[in-house]
Amino acid sequence: MTAKTYKRYLITSALPYANGPLHLGHLAGVYVPSDIYTRYLRQRDRDVISVCGSDEHGVPITLKARKEGITPQEVVDRYHGINKKAFEDFGITFDIYSRTSNQVHHETASEFFKTLYEKGVFIEKTAEQYYDEEAATFLADRYITGTCPHCGNSSAYGDQCEQCGTSLSPTDLVNPVSTISGSKPVRKETKHWYLPLDKYEPWLKQWILEEHKEWKPNVYGQCKSWLDQGLHPRAVSRDLDWGVPVPVEGADGKVLYVWFDAPIGYISATKELTPDWEKYWKDEETRMVHFIGKDNIVFHCIVFPTMLKAEGSYILPDNVPANEFLNLENEKLSTSRNWAVWLHEYLEDFPGKQDVMRYVLCANAPENKDNDFTWKDFQNRNNNELVAILGNFINRAIVLTHKYFEGKVPELTSLTEQDQATLKEIEIIAQSVERSLENFRFREAIKTAMDLARLGNKYLADTEPWKIIKSDPERVKTILNIALQISANLTLLLDPFLPFSMEKLRGFLNFEGRSWDLIGTESLLAPGHPIEKASLLFEKIEDEQIEQQLEKLHITKEDNDESAEATPLQPEITFDDFTRMDLRTGTILEAEKVPKTKKLIKMQVDLGFEKRTIVSGVAEYFKPEELPGKKVSVLANLAPRKIKGIESQGMILLSENPDGTLHFVEPSEKAVNGSEIN
Ligand code: MF3
Ligand code: ZN
Repeated sequence: MTAKTYKRYLITSALPYANGPLHLGHLAGVYVPSDIYTRYLRQRDRDVISVCGSDEHGVPITLKARKEGITPQEVVDRYHGINKKAFEDFGITFDIYSRTSNQVHHETASEFFKTLYEKGVFIEKTAEQYYDEEAATFLADRYITGTCPHCGNSSAYGDQCEQCGTSLSPTDLVNPVSTISGSKPVRKETKHWYLPLDKYEPWLKQWILEEHKEWKPNVYGQCKSWLDQGLHPRAVSRDLDWGVPVPVEGADGKVLYVWFDAPIGYISATKELTPDWEKYWKDEETRMVHFIGKDNIVFHCIVFPTMLKAEGSYILPDNVPANEFLNLENEKLSTSRNWAVWLHEYLEDFPGKQDVMRYVLCANAPENKDNDFTWKDFQNRNNNELVAILGNFINRAIVLTHKYFEGKVPELTSLTEQDQATLKEIEIIAQSVERSLENFRFREAIKTAMDLARLGNKYLADTEPWKIIKSDPERVKTILNIALQISANLTLLLDPFLPFSMEKLRGFLNFEGRSWDLIGTESLLAPGHPIEKASLLFEKIEDEQIEQQLEKLHITKEDNDESAEATPLQPEITFDDFTRMDLRTGTILEAEKVPKTKKLIKMQVDLGFEKRTIVSGVAEYFKPEELPGKKVSVLANLAPRKIKGIESQGMILLSENPDGTLHFVEPSEKAVNGSEIN
């Protein structure tokens, strides 16, 4: 934690690319934490602004436009609108959601480049790059595909092979092809401007490794590893016709590299928000915090700070609390495979349940390591925590107040030791939440904040007002007064995390207070203060809803696979590799479903020279009774494996269509059982 106290805060959240909708991973990694932090600072009455917007440049956007036959501007217009709305719907309260294709940004980024240029910061370098002669254009990395030199994948990109994950440069590709014209690109010289990161290395080492040891270990560690490996100059321009034009002579057809202009978007957004923008960017008493995902660390910790430092008049980020990635049901989120939960779809299926998702994503945030989102955990946290702990407590406090005291806050008579300890505990919890938030430990913060609801439940369970209402109504007054004070404190403490529900709760309590400083102060609700009848704050989520989500996930994934291009080929094998497989013709004799499984069928297969038991996952596509008599191809020398307790002695070959349907690879009727397939 920084010892320094700041006059104001500038919160930035990574500008999402406007080439697709947002999913849970985005929310969990960046926007939920940034919103919690911002709301907390607002409640503390700090001078804070939160800026974000669409990142609208870069090659993937131009590729998408080309694929759909529309302009890049049309692509970004579409997704800017969708994403802006998704954030609003989830209660992510940016003070501005701007975009990098707008004029202010073009001017700001252009200006920034010019300043560095005039200061002589850049190195100008001419190097050979691939050029498409038919289309008369230089090819940015993603416009070139070819064969990966490492794994043989024939559709690797100029910057990366997605099959083996190796990062490549276009000249590494074997048989490069232009994706624009399909022609073979030639090498041609082109000039670019480079930011000499190497020159800033000593300064970066001092600034990060010495002066920011408090950064999260995942962030600090990644920076250290970059710095230890040594930095190199990085090109900040590209040959492309979509982006901010390079504002110097002799730069026709060149734009600023998207990672040069995008972070400047934070500055442009602030300019757009307020004429007073400079105090947020140029005053050392502003604390700037960047919320990002881990793939953005190098740009926000090394490249952008170097740009700011080189420019000279800007402040640097004080912290960069980057998160790791969120997986979904044990698999990596993937936009192309449609393995994702899209924000707009979630709200269609769970209307009004923004807070449930905010809660689950925060409680389970990938703060220090990649983490998994599962629908089961979502349901459990809703039912066992939001409903059973928080909702239940509030409901009891309010219902009992109506039952015994006509919906008016009863007075505090005399306090027992437990009463006093309970009231004291409110403050202790709040202080602990505060410490966690100040240190960007949001999981810990939400867990501790929920302790206040746990405290309330325990208090009611211990004091049992429903049992003593007859014998000691005076005592019950005090008990419910305290329960209601806890409820009012909850609206304050949980507001950053669960803004929609806390607004509802403020309505129930007729309580308008918002300031964090009120937490733990005496009597937030005066005796006699009227309380409304409560409706449920949270509802139970049934198994059925969860099953539907799981089904949807798998169905949309398959839909997508159908439209997907052919599965890439496996790495090359030798002829010897092939001959090691002993493939034989066989005939299925018997087939029966393996009990308690969805997919498995157990078969007896005649290989001529012997009979084999083989278990195969085809029950979704064939009925056991259709199988006897079918000719099949069998991998006969596969080591036996136990499947559901049955020893499977070989494998039946199946072909799989893009939609997932299976078909037997059937030898001709003339092939006899046991004959070799080569
Ligand atoms: N668009 C980038 C991404 O989604 C993030 C850009 S952050 C900014 O990974 F700082 F460059 F704006
Ligand atoms: Zn590869």
